Amino acid sequence: MKPKFLSLAFLFLWTTAVAGQEYQNGVVVSVSAPGSDVGLSVLKQGGNAVDAAVATAFALAVTHPQAGNIGGGGFMLIYSPKGEPVVIDYRETAPAAATKTMFKKGDSRFGCRVVGVPCTVRGLGLAHQKFGKLPWKTLVLPAVELAEKGFVLDNFHANSLNKIIAESKDWLEMQRVFGHPEKQKWRAGDRLVQPDLAKTLRLIAHEGPDAFYKGRIADEIVAEMKAGNGLITKEDLQNYQAILRKPIHTTYRGYDIYGPPPPSSGGVALCQMLNTLENFDLRAKGRASPDALHLIIEAMRRAYVDRARYLGDPTFVKIPDFLTSKEYAKKLAHSIDLKKATPSAELAIDIALGDEGDSTTHFSVIDKDSLAVANTYTLEHSYGSKVVVKGAGFLLNNEMMDFNWRPGITTKTGVIGTDPNLIAPGKRMLSSQTPAVVAKDGKLLLVTGSPGGRTIINTVLQVIVNVVDYELSVEEAVQAPRLHHQWFPDEVKLEDAKKHPQTVEALRALGHKVIPQAKQGDAHTIWINPRTGGYVGAADRRLSGKVAGY
Ligand code: DON
Repeated sequence: MKPKFLSLAFLFLWTTAVAGQEYQNGVVVSVSAPGSDVGLSVLKQGGNAVDAAVATAFALAVTHPQAGNIGGGGFMLIYSPKGEPVVIDYRETAPAAATKTMFKKGDSRFGCRVVGVPCTVRGLGLAHQKFGKLPWKTLVLPAVELAEKGFVLDNFHANSLNKIIAESKDWLEMQRVFGHPEKQKWRAGDRLVQPDLAKTLRLIAHEGPDAFYKGRIADEIVAEMKAGNGLITKEDLQNYQAILRKPIHTTYRGYDIYGPPPPSSGGVALCQMLNTLENFDLRAKGRASPDALHLIIEAMRRAYVDRARYLGDPTFVKIPDFLTSKEYAKKLAHSIDLKKATPSAELAIDIALGDEGDSTTHFSVIDKDSLAVANTYTLEHSYGSKVVVKGAGFLLNNEMMDFNWRPGITTKTGVIGTDPNLIAPGKRMLSSQTPAVVAKDGKLLLVTGSPGGRTIINTVLQVIVNVVDYELSVEEAVQAPRLHHQWFPDEVKLEDAKKHPQTVEALRALGHKVIPQAKQGDAHTIWINPRTGGYVGAADRRLSGKVAGY
């Protein structure tokens, strides 16, 4: 009797681990356990998914300082079963004094000059104003408490702080705010307390977003800019607007796909790649088979050429409609040689791309009424510009690096500038952030997104393909190894390459240059069981994270 019971118990635990625990009332999944817990408690207090997302975003600004932020920006996709999905574009803008040629080779990626006008607080304010239910203060105060009383670091966050402190000796305010009070190394279990940030957040809680854009915090940002040769003025802050936009939409094998429109390239490139892949039977080719991977890589390569050629801030650049059309995707699909990699240089010889950073964060939320939020936001690099606003306790982004900042130079390995994403005053820099949802007949299936600079779009693509084409559980779909091709450099980066030497060989035989990579993305995702309507979260295990549900 006993062994049988044990094996049944094991089977149950194993199934739950693979399929995931199912919740009926709401789920928040983010990179930070205290961040997810704040979102969950807001849901339990009667807040909706947007309330929980706003509260989680403020909490992550405290508990995940490398990317969670009030000094950066991002994109929030809101899917309501009752109305049209919308995107809140709270992307940074170039300050009014910015110019196309303000950066030159060798300029620092850190410091005040690379800061875009921060917009997270305006974006969260707009989300709350349009869709929130609970008072604003209720959503900000949990973050105040986390900053004031501190929170317990896990291993991942302790290591991350140690790394940035060791690398950033000259950034004194950052050392003061994030260094260990006794100049020790941070260890898991230590408590990080941020009194300056608590003060700043309390002001935002009581006075609303204007405190950041017109009040004392604005003055503190401008003083920091003046001291550090930065460009952002009080007018830049006052003029900043978050924008409600219509998401990019396509269908993929009968599912509706929604992603963010420009100035993110995420929605357009994601839809273009899915449209291309729809011309092939990926499932019949077998999951992770060299033939299927070849098609995925070729779809990526083609979408990233168009990203460089056409995409930028739509206020400044006309984005062609055909990019997400099925006819165009058919043409792209026909251009793929099934037996041979297309050299990237053959697709466009006139363009090349710069580097992007490696820290952003994505979280997903759903509430009892199936209102869902996919939110990705960022400081661009890990810990952004390394500028902590003096006495205010928060980091500023280095998002100006997302512009093509060296107009007219083109190499196959690196940086340079196509026209659509050159710097102009007030312009939003092109992003790859891709908060996305998948739905069928108005019912949600997936809420997803990821960090990872330009890899983001490909990470989201693979999570969707894993679920839609290969019917993996959300846990398997999120943890499965990923790959990345971005047109230039002309190479495929592959996770877990060592474990799959035959796949690597087969891809090389097709003409792909395969480079092993350690980790790609961090895709905290929610799957909605179409049979039961229950919610299953998957916290990506690549960094850290928690599914909080009830
Ligand atoms: O908006 C973008 O596309 C980039 N600034 C994102 C940077 C990023 O994801 C770094 N992350 N891991």
